[in-house]
Amino acid sequence: MPEVPSYRIFASSQSASTALAEDISQLIRSRDSEERTTVLGLATGNTPIELYKELIRMHRAGLSFRNVVTFNLDEYIGIEREHPESYWQFMHSHLFNHIDINPENIHIPDGMVAADNIESHCSAYENHIEEAGGIDLQVLGIGRNGHIGFNEPGVSPDVATHATDLNQVTINDAAEAFGGAADVPQRAITMGVKTILGAQRIALLAFGSSKADIVERALTSGITSEVPATYLQSHPDTTFFLDQDAGKRLS
Ligand code: GLP
Repeated sequence: MPEVPSYRIFASSQSASTALAEDISQLIRSRDSEERTTVLGLATGNTPIELYKELIRMHRAGLSFRNVVTFNLDEYIGIEREHPESYWQFMHSHLFNHIDINPENIHIPDGMVAADNIESHCSAYENHIEEAGGIDLQVLGIGRNGHIGFNEPGVSPDVATHATDLNQVTINDAAEAFGGAADVPQRAITMGVKTILGAQRIALLAFGSSKADIVERALTSGITSEVPATYLQSHPDTTFFLDQDAGKRLS
């Protein structure tokens, strides 16, 4: 029997983000005390912005990221790091530029890798995760179509980091940021479901009414490739951090 992920409904997105930031800070401090690095899997999107603000606040209050290694879930193919919508740019402006992480410890798939080298880039990404000791805690958001990272509906659970076409719902959701659907990249590199399920612990953040239906499906419908987030039901330590709106369909 798959274990249904647990969920916690908070009074606000801020309190959910603070709770997860506290968990992350405890993890870093406990691994530091054992002189071990902490390996975090990180996500982009509007949802984790408050989490990153909170981590920056904690850093200013003394939390060090010197012994933290990060792996981002995904990156668009065909846009430069400097592009305002690249996930490289997002992560640096919302988190990395404000903490003491060693730049060598930051890993984000390279969206500008030549087409012929994508496959080797993806397997090297997997190797780096393995060499780092695996992901201790993976932060996720969720797309309105149930995607995690860019694992779109129909994806197999057995695939590791790979290149994928973006789903139309995903493209439409990104259209405003890119100034129109025509300018949204059509493809991306993403950790696979297999990579995500390899994390020791997973924390999925979802806020707002627009996520209520998909959160309900992710938690309560059977495991189906049509809603990739349902694969999390087969992971032994996943928690959804929700605000009241995102959790409103759950009893
Ligand atoms: C993008 C990212 C996902 C993210 C999703 C939801 O597609 N690849 O990792 O979870 O958007 O974004 P938002 O948090 O803005 O709703």
